[in-house]
Amino acid sequence: MKRWLDSSWTQEMRVEIDTNLMMVPMLGEKEGISEKDIEKLQPLIQNIHGQLEEEKSQGRLPFLTIPFDLSLAPQIKKFVQGTKPWVENFVVLGIGGSALGAKALQTALSHPHYNLLSKTMRKGFPRLFVTDNVDPDGFKALLDLLEVRKTLFNVISKSGGTAETMSQFLIIRDLLKKKLGNRKEKEHLVITTDPVQGVLRKIAEEESFQSFEIPSLLGGRFSVLSAVGLLPAAMCGIDIEELQAGAREMAGRCQNPSLWENPAYWCACLSILSYRHLKKNIRVIMPYGDSLKGMGEWFCQLWAESLGKRYNLKGREVWNGQTPVTALGATDQHSQLQLYMEGPGDKVFSFLGIKNFAGLIPLPKLYPKMEELAYLGGHSLNQLMQAEMKATRLTLAQNGRPSLLITLPKINPYTIGQLIFLWEMETYICGRLMGINPLNQPGVEEGKKMAYAFLGRKGFEREGKEGESIFKPNKKYIL
Ligand code: PA5
Repeated sequence: MKRWLDSSWTQEMRVEIDTNLMMVPMLGEKEGISEKDIEKLQPLIQNIHGQLEEEKSQGRLPFLTIPFDLSLAPQIKKFVQGTKPWVENFVVLGIGGSALGAKALQTALSHPHYNLLSKTMRKGFPRLFVTDNVDPDGFKALLDLLEVRKTLFNVISKSGGTAETMSQFLIIRDLLKKKLGNRKEKEHLVITTDPVQGVLRKIAEEESFQSFEIPSLLGGRFSVLSAVGLLPAAMCGIDIEELQAGAREMAGRCQNPSLWENPAYWCACLSILSYRHLKKNIRVIMPYGDSLKGMGEWFCQLWAESLGKRYNLKGREVWNGQTPVTALGATDQHSQLQLYMEGPGDKVFSFLGIKNFAGLIPLPKLYPKMEELAYLGGHSLNQLMQAEMKATRLTLAQNGRPSLLITLPKINPYTIGQLIFLWEMETYICGRLMGINPLNQPGVEEGKKMAYAFLGRKGFEREGKEGESIFKPNKKYIL
């Protein structure tokens, strides 16, 4: 039986969100959030809740319903089994929301040095590489490493037209043709894109490439639980069914109309209050565990691109958004923490804790007479990590810096699935509370269009001219 079907196991694996250090009783009137302020948001939440249910039933919010698509995982697993005998390298060609989810899942759920493990230790699954850029040196270095004959490339693009991804596609397509000839090249490419729109879908159809669909209304940064994230994860042997089950568990908790019991509503309310009332313009994600670093980076894109908006839904200029930053505990205590403690009070913190790490590393009792070392002996790295996190949270609180703590009982697909769903829903609800559209990204599109113009793409001449018109460099300012 799958462990996620066992209710005592799922209970044990429930992600906990402790927001005490955000609230007035612990932080005081000036730095904390009061229940009264939260209560005032209840009618708005009520309203959003009603609309959400309606939008969900109309299929307009696929990021909330995709964990319930039980046909997806078997389809992906079948594909993985079919390629396993010959694929030694699986390469994701994609950027932003089409890359960060795969990276986050692998960092969280695979061995930290997965690509360096032998094939046996990888249980026969291929190595995973996620490009996420078009740096020529980085791309060349990757190609130098790969034996094309044993490599499967996954082109991922929702729009099917992003210049970075399509450039990678062109290079790889050409390479495959040259190295393998027309007959074999198709086996080495799998496309993940919109079911209808975009040139990539057109190519997939016309040239009969293997392909997966990203539901039409599912945007890049909300797509990790679609084939965008699930295929690369399954290629590394990650249990994607458990991941979906974890997301469904959190979806169940986030059904509750009361913001006092709904983790996503609760976190979204605290987020907007910390932004609007407490003027916290920066949200620092502090994972205490290397495996969660990628989740922090994935969240940063989700939060930044969803909430950073110039206009609200009424068309009024608002320049909205809270800047997300990831700082790894304990590493960044020795890099960023001084600023967080004593610098401007413009930050709110989200700690990610791991209750039980996979292993236990005891600290040997080697110098019993030297107090500087003796206190460590007999403890473990696990306890040190917990102590560091607790000390950081509490000293931040002493300095009036609010934080919440999300504790994952263990790192596994079930707990990561919960975290993904929680953060996606919190982001969306927060956007709704802010009165902006969290699902679009007009600012990114603007940049994309100007880049097209600079590369001479037809139809984008105006954007190019507008960009150039403000760029009148003065030599005096170039040193
Ligand atoms: O979240 C988003 O929509 C973006 O970050 C996109 O993922 C990114 O721009 C890549 O776009 P696409 O998947 O269309 O290639």
